Amino acid sequence: MDRLVSLTTFLILLIVNTPLIDADRPVFISNAIVQLAKPLTESCKSTTNVTDEQIRKVNTGNFEDGKIIGCYSHCLWQKMDLLDENDNIKTEIIEALLPDEFKGNIIQTLLTCQKRHPPKDDKCDRSFSIQKCYYEISPQTFYML
Ligand SMILES: *[C@@H]1O[C@H](CO)[C@@H](O)[C@H](O)[C@H]1NC(C)=O
Repeated sequence: MDRLVSLTTFLILLIVNTPLIDADRPVFISNAIVQLAKPLTESCKSTTNVTDEQIRKVNTGNFEDGKIIGCYSHCLWQKMDLLDENDNIKTEIIEALLPDEFKGNIIQTLLTCQKRHPPKDDKCDRSFSIQKCYYEISPQTFYML
């Protein structure tokens, strides 16, 4: 139940953009989203042991930390309830929550990368490959919370 409530709030806040401070962040990731996602990011940081520095590096296009980044992003997507039973992205949720101007590009990129990296046993590895693929195609819409 808690998860449903927080996801709904998350979806609403995704649409209501607030002014940004961090220039590297895409406009559709508002401060409100960052705050709202905090319990999830904190939880995934502690289960994966990823550091803020490692996350920051990914946001500047440095993917050298590999597996731990994959585990962190997989954890986050899972906690946000964005993955189906095959570990693929529930595009209908993305579709519903993103502003029109970014939607097409983001969904297309996700689907392309997901197809390029089909589901496999090592969820961290796959998630990492998808993140990296995404960054390579659309760095301007990439952001790791
Ligand atoms: C994270 O660190 C803790 C404490 O050092 C350790 O027990 C745990 O196994 C680590 N988790 C992972 C996924 O490496």
